[in-house]
Amino acid sequence: MQNERSNLQVLLARHPDGVATAADFTTRETSLPEPGEGELLIESHYVGLDAALRLIVRDSDEFLFRVRPGDRVHGSIAGRVIQSNHPDWHVGDFVSGSLGVQRYALSDGSGLERCDTTQAPLSAWLGGFGVSGLTAYFALFDVCRPQPGQTVLITGAAGAVGTMAGQFAKMAGARVIGTAGDDDKCRWLVEELGYDVAINYRHAGWFERLREAAPERLDVVFDNTGGDVMNQSLKLIGMHGTVLLCGSTSQYTEEAMQGPSNYIWLGTMRARLQGFVVFDYAARYAEARARMAGWIRDGRLKLPETAVEGDISEFGAVFEQLYRGVNRGKMLLKLPAAV
Ligand SMILES: NC(=O)c1ccc[n+]([C@@H]2O[C@H](COP(=O)([O-])OP(=O)(O)OC[C@H]3O[C@@H](n4cnc5c(N)ncnc54)[C@H](OP(=O)(O)O)[C@@H]3O)[C@@H](O)[C@H]2O)c1
Repeated sequence: MQNERSNLQVLLARHPDGVATAADFTTRETSLPEPGEGELLIESHYVGLDAALRLIVRDSDEFLFRVRPGDRVHGSIAGRVIQSNHPDWHVGDFVSGSLGVQRYALSDGSGLERCDTTQAPLSAWLGGFGVSGLTAYFALFDVCRPQPGQTVLITGAAGAVGTMAGQFAKMAGARVIGTAGDDDKCRWLVEELGYDVAINYRHAGWFERLREAAPERLDVVFDNTGGDVMNQSLKLIGMHGTVLLCGSTSQYTEEAMQGPSNYIWLGTMRARLQGFVVFDYAARYAEARARMAGWIRDGRLKLPETAVEGDISEFGAVFEQLYRGVNRGKMLLKLPAAV
């Protein structure tokens, strides 16, 4: 049982062998940090479960971040300031940031975001109103720029980014096709999020369904997963189409990554394969959020999330569920402190 005046942090116990399990993580109890001059203390309410954390399996500096056994696990939290010696942050402020997976976090304010919960609920600042939604917003509206009547394919459509990208593509007037890993999720994408067609890529014949759904080919492939689904979709890319490399979830745990062998279609169709990183747009986050807040108010934009309630020590077990695709929208761990 944890002492009330102590902190609980989640550490990597060992490098996962492919898919991470709860046993790959452990916890450490430390004393509750005391903020010094210019510092503040935050109590975590939500922890975001990020697909990119699967890269920890790689134990390499080549990717986004490296976590070694014994290190605190990298992750974003959203919570409330409970003590402050910082002039810009006050007790009661809602904040989010990349502060590691822990119940309490000390900060000097750098990299911290102020969460205006009148724009969107606190949890959404880690998902649809946070990096996932901003990724979908800029990748879709700034890079892919689908025109009314064009056809957009979104892979990983039921995930945190895909659920937002699909809604934005509909707002742009496109016809939107999504791929997801189970029939219920596919139904939900159509009935709740407005996707025109959703295809379960685990069924044999999925590619034929995609071909039928896109008789005039695909103007945009917004790719979150890489692997076979992305590779097959290249056969249907349209003239001057865009294949946006948002993420490669299927490859993060693969020792030998699989490249797209159907790239020849990109040449024939004068199409482009476009990389993308949301952090390049940091100066425009407020502008995007102002528009998104308006759509939320008007009921035009949903912020899907799957929040599992539990203590911080359950992080590993919840992370494991992400590999099974149980999430609809952003996967979150909702801590007891959340209101
Ligand atoms: N470029 C950027 O700036 C940026 C920013 C944020 C995120 N990303 C990337 O964008 C991608 C999507 O992120 P997200 O937060 O939406 O992810 P997410 O919510 O974790 O969704 C991932 C979904 O991918 C599917 N999936 C799981 N394992 C898979 C596999 N082996 N092969 C194919 N699909 C699999 C699952 O759905 P199904 O069961 O339905 O397949 C799962 O629900 C990730 O690769 C992430 O790293 C990029």
